[in-house]
Amino acid sequence: MHEQEPNFWVRDVPVYGDVVLSPMAGYSDVPYRALCRSYGSAMNYTEFVPVEGLLGKKRDNRYWQRLDKKPDEHPIIFQIFGSDAPKILRAAQRIEELEPDIIDINMGCATRRVSGRGAGVGMMPQPELVRETFSLLTQHLSVPITGKIRLGWDTDQQNFADIARILEDNGAALIAMHARTKTQKYGGRADWDAIARLRETVTVPVIGNGDVNTPDDIERMKAHTGCDAVMIGRGAIGNPWIFARKEKSDLLLPDIVAAICLHANEMVAYYGEAHGLMLFRKHLKRYLEDQPKAERILPQLLQISELGYFEAVLAEWESEMLFAQG
Ligand SMILES: Cc1cc2nc3c(=O)[nH]c(=O)nc-3n(C[C@H](O)[C@H](O)[C@H](O)COP(=O)(O)O)c2cc1C
Repeated sequence: MHEQEPNFWVRDVPVYGDVVLSPMAGYSDVPYRALCRSYGSAMNYTEFVPVEGLLGKKRDNRYWQRLDKKPDEHPIIFQIFGSDAPKILRAAQRIEELEPDIIDINMGCATRRVSGRGAGVGMMPQPELVRETFSLLTQHLSVPITGKIRLGWDTDQQNFADIARILEDNGAALIAMHARTKTQKYGGRADWDAIARLRETVTVPVIGNGDVNTPDDIERMKAHTGCDAVMIGRGAIGNPWIFARKEKSDLLLPDIVAAICLHANEMVAYYGEAHGLMLFRKHLKRYLEDQPKAERILPQLLQISELGYFEAVLAEWESEMLFAQG
């Protein structure tokens, strides 16, 4: 039950809050989404899944597992990508049975493997494919369909406004935009002016994305663009507090240790002990990267495969640090 009014609606799905964890392959899995949600992420996307991985006769768990969700995880958006509208439709119909709140089409992935075959941001130079995909999906599915786009292919082909109109005209219920081109990948600055132009172009909710790394950035992007919500990717890795609008540098060591333990426990509950702790390593490095004297403990923590021992070593380091601080 929510006492407050929703910040916005994705068609008939209420969203309570204005900060959202990005879809991130290799990161936005069930455990990390649970953690970010507990700090205030208002809505979560799964990692992207290729439609071909969902259409094979034999169930391929590598892909289906990315669509796992907790029973109380709402709103949850399943994100898929492909380059053939009827195939995207068939995959979306299959995954609709798992009861996501929303299905999103990735039109932003810039890797050659994806965009080079006309999927991800490779859809953006193909307005007819975008139209056909959204028209088919919104006619044949009952969940809201949304799109995540970039500015366009390159500086000379920034067609986000045209694509956004096509999305809206064909029933898309929300547009998220990473404000860089395909050729920029993750470099250069995100163009927040373009997010403001997108907000003026369509009436459906808009989520702005790119270069949000601090709580101040959240407010600045909202004020600059008028977007309905702000999406955070890299700035949230090792830093889930950003969803609570807290600066990592203002936190005390026990806050950081508590988040590490919570996240490690979620990983172990979901993946099992040794595998969960192994997959947790990339997160752990990011939690501790700016902690003074973390180099004393990190190599040891990265080798541990038992949760109880991991927590004990971390607690001992925490006590030492607190004692040293006086
Ligand atoms: C490791 C990694 C994996 C990503 N995977 C996805 C993905 O599966 N789907 C997607 O739409 N975007 C993906 N992205 C892009 C992010 O969602 C986001 O648009 C981008 O990182 C820009 O936001 P940021 O500046 O807050 O990181 C990924 C980004 C990173 C760094």
